[in-house]
Amino acid sequence: MPTVNIALIGYKFMGRAHSNAYRQVRHFFPGKLEPRMKVICGRDREAVTAAARKLGWEEVETDWRRAVERKDIDVVDISTPGNLHRPMVLAAAHAGKHVVCEKPLANTLADAYEMLRAVERAGVKHMLMHNYRKIPAVAFARKLVQEGRIGTVYHYRGAYLQSWLLDPKFPLLWRLDRKLAGSGALGDIGSHACDLARCLNSEFESVAGQLTTFIKERAYPEAPRQAKRRGRVTVDDDANFLARFRNGSAGVIESSRLCGGRLNYNMFEMYGSRGSLAFNLERMNELQFFDATEAADRRGYRTISVTQAAHPYVGAWWPPGHIIGYEHTFVHAIADFLSALERDRLPEPNFYDGVRNQAVLDAVERSAQSGRWEKVKCPI
Ligand SMILES: NC(=O)c1ccc[n+]([C@@H]2O[C@H](COP(=O)([O-])OP(=O)(O)OC[C@H]3O[C@@H](n4cnc5c(N)ncnc54)[C@H](O)[C@@H]3O)[C@@H](O)[C@H]2O)c1
Repeated sequence: MPTVNIALIGYKFMGRAHSNAYRQVRHFFPGKLEPRMKVICGRDREAVTAAARKLGWEEVETDWRRAVERKDIDVVDISTPGNLHRPMVLAAAHAGKHVVCEKPLANTLADAYEMLRAVERAGVKHMLMHNYRKIPAVAFARKLVQEGRIGTVYHYRGAYLQSWLLDPKFPLLWRLDRKLAGSGALGDIGSHACDLARCLNSEFESVAGQLTTFIKERAYPEAPRQAKRRGRVTVDDDANFLARFRNGSAGVIESSRLCGGRLNYNMFEMYGSRGSLAFNLERMNELQFFDATEAADRRGYRTISVTQAAHPYVGAWWPPGHIIGYEHTFVHAIADFLSALERDRLPEPNFYDGVRNQAVLDAVERSAQSGRWEKVKCPI
């Protein structure tokens, strides 16, 4: 079977999730191309060697540029902080490699657009890891919307809430530094909420947003050895906004990492002329569907267990009711990516989605500054 050689940059949270996906994908999703876990890249030789052994990679590199430029590499997978996405994508495109990139695509709209142009010029395939689209219940919700089962959409409500920053002692990691992360809750989890809204509902037209940093200073992770022990948080803790969509629906999107009791509460609700849908990642095998066309005396939300062979993706796994989890979303994304390579198609979501998504984040930032509604200005 022809192989496609992968270079993965980053071996922590997403590095582990992507490694698992490359390892698992062909055990459940057969295809003509075999991904080969060729090289994993990190700066610390000892740590990356241990990661390679644990995660199943053949070789290690400590300089990402060397990994990207290797002749035997076909795909570069970027699982590093946001500030590194741009140089890594540009180098990968320049070297003619297909790219899988973590979200958000970039730290600014201008960077995202430059990255899209680079992969277009290079003629390589590109995928953006908005993995939540790949949840069977989410893909099924999209199908119901496309079939007209909820009719004309009036309201879209999305929220992605977590609680890990509630503790004021949580250290000042890269995600709290604008130079590295670009933004806070907005780009980190709000970008997922925007992607789901775009995927399920419509492109955004305009937004009115606010960004708030509640805990303005935090201790550096290496505090005891550092002269300056505390530093400023330069990103938002909370990003929420009202939205007008191009399909005429009205929306509200919230994202925060200071919501006690919400661990990974990525939810959406859609209310249309014929029905409604509701989903929450913490119960990711279920979709709530309300059919407004049924007789009033028997209407009500029903819970669909999205685990049937007829549902998207899930038939490749277990019998009905044998639920799947977070890691499966990445396996589905990589299965779609490999299938796109085989068929010489562009996978979804891709860098076009990345630019459109970044344009929404950009409009929210402008609106938070101006205090006004702002149009989403997308260069594509
Ligand atoms: N799709 C999702 O659901 C999801 C979830 C979490 C994070 N992310 C995204 O994934 C990306 C990485 O986040 P993470 O949570 O895995 O971060 P992390 O801090 O857990 O891991 C970052 C990795 O990047 C590596 N790295 C940093 N600088 C490097 C350099 N110069 N050269 C080589 N490697 C370098 C680190 O060694 C580490 O392995 C971010 O863009 C983030 O937004 C996506």
